[in-house]
Amino acid sequence: MKEFQQSDALARLPEQFFAKLVKKLYTYQQQGHDLINLGQGNPDQPTPDHIVKSLQKAAENPVNHKYSPFQGFDHLKEAVATYYKREYNVDVDPSTEVALLFGSKAGLVELSQCFLNEGDVALVPDPGYPDYWSGVALANGVMEPLPLLEENGFLPNYDMLDQETLQKAKLMFLNYPNNPTSAVANESFFKETIALAEQEDICVVHDFAYGAIGFDGDKPLSFLQVPGAKNVGVEIYTMSKTYNMAGWRIAFAVGNPSVVKALELIQDHYYVSLFGAVQDAAATALLDSQQCVEDLKETYEKRRNLLVTGLQEAGYEITPCKGSFFMWLKVPDGYTSESFADELLDKVGLFVAPGVGFGEYGEFYVRIGLNNSEEHLREAVHRFKRFKKDQ
Ligand SMILES: Cc1ncc(COP(=O)(O)O)c(C=O)c1O
Repeated sequence: MKEFQQSDALARLPEQFFAKLVKKLYTYQQQGHDLINLGQGNPDQPTPDHIVKSLQKAAENPVNHKYSPFQGFDHLKEAVATYYKREYNVDVDPSTEVALLFGSKAGLVELSQCFLNEGDVALVPDPGYPDYWSGVALANGVMEPLPLLEENGFLPNYDMLDQETLQKAKLMFLNYPNNPTSAVANESFFKETIALAEQEDICVVHDFAYGAIGFDGDKPLSFLQVPGAKNVGVEIYTMSKTYNMAGWRIAFAVGNPSVVKALELIQDHYYVSLFGAVQDAAATALLDSQQCVEDLKETYEKRRNLLVTGLQEAGYEITPCKGSFFMWLKVPDGYTSESFADELLDKVGLFVAPGVGFGEYGEFYVRIGLNNSEEHLREAVHRFKRFKKDQ
């Protein structure tokens, strides 16, 4: 069969590290190994019932059988503004400061296409969520890592950036609560970010995917809560994690009107907006009782406590995470992140994500997901203990 040459843009795409891992996982599963998957970021629980019912009802409405308005329904953008006011006391103009996205992954890739010309720099967290890299590669931009080091609380240290990099930087991606390190941001860090972005003309994209998942009574800070944030960027808010709606593909960019406008422009060319019934159900999720979110947080916090206690008993060094549904575990001496992950899989059937898959500075850590039942996590602790004993 004739094989067509792919474009240069596709050739620039980074290797999908995790696709390789998932393949290995499936091979093991097919061989009948008894595995516990702590390596992936897929919420394990169903979407709350009232949201599913809202979708069912909306699917019967013929209005939703037509093309929806190009940039989405106003009522959903208004729901987003209500949500930000209620949850964060942030004023958002629904007509100019909200763009609907087909999941945040799509929006994050589009943003690089919106703002980078060839050779422009995008500052990306390292370790970080790999889809930032994909967008930068497609746009033919240049990635400069923002190392997230444990001694800085996994926050970037902007003093490490040289003047030339800062001058070329057009975009900066941040993500707190952070995937994979689980770190949370504080107000002074966001203030420092805003000052830098103002000074260097950098558009800040704060990926708030785990915004609803904070522990020990602390609510993660929205970037938009900090004065001046809207002037320098947007926050990306997905429904995937807060409401277990990962399969529904819906998220928002909220903030700076010129960024919202650029996203809506590119999307006018890629798509017509999302299925109207998904938009209706998303509005239900944002506006109705938030008890389901409280319950979800409680579930993850219980799981975190179980895992932290168990791992500490087993002799692993681990600090309780403050947000997200991940834990970031330093690998024991003598291992790399991949060799530790490989041995865990081979010897005790535990699948974890090697930190190096999230960037160079993720080396010597592995990411462990809390998106497994308590029963599975108890068994995982048991296996971690067994592994440690046999080491
Ligand atoms: C940090 C981060 N950003 C974005 C996403 C993608 O979310 P969505 O389902 O909205 O595409 C994920 C998913 O795992 C994530 O961890």
